[in-house]
Amino acid sequence: MANKTLKISDEELGKTVSFPLYEGTLGHPTLDIQALNKEYGCFTFDPGFASTASCKSSITFIDGDEGVLLYRGYPIDQLAEHSSFLEVAYLLMHGELPSSDQFAEFEAEIKGYSNIHENLRGFIEGFHYDAHPMAMMVGVVGSLSAFYHSQLDIDDPEHRRISSMRMLAKMPIIAAACFRHTTGEAFIYPRTDLDYCENFLNMMFSSPSEQFFINEADYLDPLAVKALNLLFILHADHEQNASTSTVRLASSTGANPYACIAAGIAALWGPAHGGANEAVLSMLAEIGDVSRIPEFIARAKDKNDSFRLMGFGHRVYKNHDPRATIIRKTCHEILAKQENPDPLFALALGLEEIALKDEYFIDRKLYPNVDFYSGIIYKALNIPVEMFTVMFTIARTAGWVSHWQELMADPAKRIGRPRQLYTGKGVRDYKSFEQR
Ligand code: SDX
Repeated sequence: MANKTLKISDEELGKTVSFPLYEGTLGHPTLDIQALNKEYGCFTFDPGFASTASCKSSITFIDGDEGVLLYRGYPIDQLAEHSSFLEVAYLLMHGELPSSDQFAEFEAEIKGYSNIHENLRGFIEGFHYDAHPMAMMVGVVGSLSAFYHSQLDIDDPEHRRISSMRMLAKMPIIAAACFRHTTGEAFIYPRTDLDYCENFLNMMFSSPSEQFFINEADYLDPLAVKALNLLFILHADHEQNASTSTVRLASSTGANPYACIAAGIAALWGPAHGGANEAVLSMLAEIGDVSRIPEFIARAKDKNDSFRLMGFGHRVYKNHDPRATIIRKTCHEILAKQENPDPLFALALGLEEIALKDEYFIDRKLYPNVDFYSGIIYKALNIPVEMFTVMFTIARTAGWVSHWQELMADPAKRIGRPRQLYTGKGVRDYKSFEQR
């Protein structure tokens, strides 16, 4: 893989060392600095890992400057237009689009794992009614490691494949069950006659009396199912983001995969990451009216104010987030069909227009990201705000299990263990109370 080298010289040491420079299929070359500590006795310093490639991966590629996102080489706009979430999950996990027979088999196996142990429902019922659904997801998904631990050989590819299928299948059931617990409504079991997204909406919104009879329910409106597939496709993976990197780091120790995915859910919850979609809706509600936008833009620019414009900016995209562009278009389509379109969408468009004319945002290349508009569609699907990041969790499970499998199949995998720049006290002797 090393196509070129980069020389690093130290005049004091009178030393020049060539380090391998790897070229990937696409994107930036990467400098292999594994020998740096041995050759120069120093570490690299890159808090936030903005200039650090943590691994090789063939799953997803992002070009932040060009606003490009590829899943296994397929452009996100083509998958958004033509695919379904479950087909994209197959693509991410297996590296190729399935034949119709392969997809039928995959979907049938997912349906076969679409259940949860009755004791797991008891675990959910132990939460207080007002528990945040993401807090419940972290605990309940982590507890799957208590149901699937013995006889789980993570060195066996087939065990890894089955574990991945189980997580993909169970995530929407657990998510809907957590939601129903917060509303005090009965748990709705999945139906084998509904597809992945239809089942989720049915488990969220139907009732015990109607769940098997009404397929024409508005929550099963084909446009709603199409919009949910789209949102899940757009959120399915995003290379080495914070939550996926968390899953990889936890998995590098050989921990139970269900516990590793729970660690990813915890990382996703933060408002700087997947929690931004919920924070965007709260921010739009707080802004309330277009006339107050300048006040909030000023706060976002004020270094003494911790307020940030939620849904704006991205570590990688320094151009439009292609997902935001796709979602923005779908927002228009869905809200155009509504008699009373959500005023928050008009407010969001107004905020985007004003922000993108402001030199602070232009200079820093802060564009709307995937989370800026997704909440408006979720709201149109009657998904409650506190469930927005749970929706992100369901979708990103496809990416997390794909990265987990990729890492575990790598014969060169090592435990992740970063170093540090120590800025604490030098060596000093213990002093008794009297001496202090
Ligand atoms: C996701 O990594 C992924 O791929 C994530 C994700 C995925 O699919 O997995 O794409 C999903 O997490 C999308 C991002 C959702 N988060 C938000 O919308 C929260 C608001 N955004 C910011 O918190 C921020 O933009 C981040 C966290 C997204 C990116 O942070 P960085 O890369 O560390 O950027 P930074 O803090 O270095 O900011 C650079 C400058 C700073 O100003 P200066 O110090 O140069 O003067 O831009 C400013 C920042 O203050 N800035 C913002 C801002 N984002 C950055 N100022 C106001 N509002 C913002 N939203």
